[in-house]
Amino acid sequence: MQVPSTITPASGRVAVLCAGMGAVATTFMAGVLLARRGLGQPIGSLTQMGTIRLGPRKDGRAPKIADFISLASLDDLVFGGWDIFPDDAHAAAVDAAVLSAADLDTVRHELAQIKPMRAVFDPAYVRRLDGSHVKTGKSKADLVEQLRDDIRAFLRLHECSRAVCIWCGSTEVFQEPAPCHASAQAFERGLLANDSAISSSQIYAWACMKEGVPFANGAPNLTVDFPAAWELARSCGVPIAGKDFKTGQTLMKTVIAPALKARMLGVRGWFSTNILGNRDGEVLDDPGSFKTKENSKLGALELILQPKLYPALYDEIFHKVRIEYYPPRGDAKEGWDNIDLFGWLGYPMQLKVDFLCRDSILAAPLVLDLALFLDFAKRAGLSGTQEWLSFYWKSPMTAPGLTPEHDLFIQLKKLKNTLRWLKGEQLITHLGNEYYD
Ligand SMILES: NC(=O)c1ccc[n+]([C@@H]2O[C@H](COP(=O)([O-])OP(=O)(O)OC[C@H]3O[C@@H](n4cnc5c(N)ncnc54)[C@H](O)[C@@H]3O)[C@@H](O)[C@H]2O)c1
Repeated sequence: MQVPSTITPASGRVAVLCAGMGAVATTFMAGVLLARRGLGQPIGSLTQMGTIRLGPRKDGRAPKIADFISLASLDDLVFGGWDIFPDDAHAAAVDAAVLSAADLDTVRHELAQIKPMRAVFDPAYVRRLDGSHVKTGKSKADLVEQLRDDIRAFLRLHECSRAVCIWCGSTEVFQEPAPCHASAQAFERGLLANDSAISSSQIYAWACMKEGVPFANGAPNLTVDFPAAWELARSCGVPIAGKDFKTGQTLMKTVIAPALKARMLGVRGWFSTNILGNRDGEVLDDPGSFKTKENSKLGALELILQPKLYPALYDEIFHKVRIEYYPPRGDAKEGWDNIDLFGWLGYPMQLKVDFLCRDSILAAPLVLDLALFLDFAKRAGLSGTQEWLSFYWKSPMTAPGLTPEHDLFIQLKKLKNTLRWLKGEQLITHLGNEYYD
């Protein structure tokens, strides 16, 4: 791959469209509005808080990422989206009960102006929800066209020069790729024929790509991770990324598992359970949606520990993941992990992790980073799957046949090296022998 010769400057307003305006999307929007006024800090956002080391350690060069790569400024973001419920972003945020009434009141006026556009929704894919704020169309191809009209109208109305879209919608039921997912042509035929294997999230992704709008998938659904979508993304010059925000338990898993493996400690069992009571939890209470999430959560451990390469350490690992819908907790999820490990001569040990987190507080900064990085990627001329954004995902998308990288710190190194590469800076290998010449 060639280093892009030019990166278009980040001038003009950027539409950030959230497909699904529930807890995560509205917490993201409210947070940016508060941060913009200096009334809150964008904690957890690499683009806003992070720095990047450039050149040798002795040089002490570590600019903020946002300055190094000229990202769009928070002031230039304009929020919009789609939902199956007509509530504006303020009402939806009140309902999600993540942020305090005081915080939401401060930006009430701006949030109330963010009204969702009518959604594309097939209840077969999200069985626990039913909303009336939905589009109707002759075919799925027609729905794609309606979404494209929405995007164009939004850009015109809000005088935006470009857009990005993040799927913040509910988790759809588990699905293997079908024949319509094999090529762009097959998918177009499927849209015209109302192929039941084409889900709502795929219709959004298709419309966005056709409009040249970068797309990221915050849920574990197939959405944009199949050959037809990879092909369209490349041919339309659109960066895509996914899937499933890596926020709580899996974030910890992809930190702890590489540490145990680095020390060659064995693992016999890893039991992960969660309680959460938000709408996401309610949707995941449906076995079809849970299976999509379970698959996404299960994958990381085996790929990190590589039992085939280290049979003595990981061959017999028993890995189980549960999610329990427990309304009293709302968005304040609790994720427990019990790890049965063993050390020298096989002596057993245990590690317990109890992460009392807040789902949407962890996810909101990821939405911001992904919106800004995808906009940057598009301006840098990148298209197709953006593997350097693996850092953000439970199930990172990769080129076909490649094993995804799950180790959080390798992912971060990859992300930063990609930024250095794009800007013509020296890559950092951490070899460091030059200091001893
Ligand atoms: N919060 C986290 O830490 C986290 C981590 C990983 C993944 N996720 C995923 O992010 C997504 C959003 O989470 P959330 O907590 O905001 O959920 P939520 O239930 O609060 O919001 C989802 C919204 O999507 C809407 N929706 C569903 N289908 C739609 C469609 N076809 N078109 C438009 N809107 C649609 C719902 O009406 C709802 O308002 C979920 O899929 C969740 O699994 C969240």
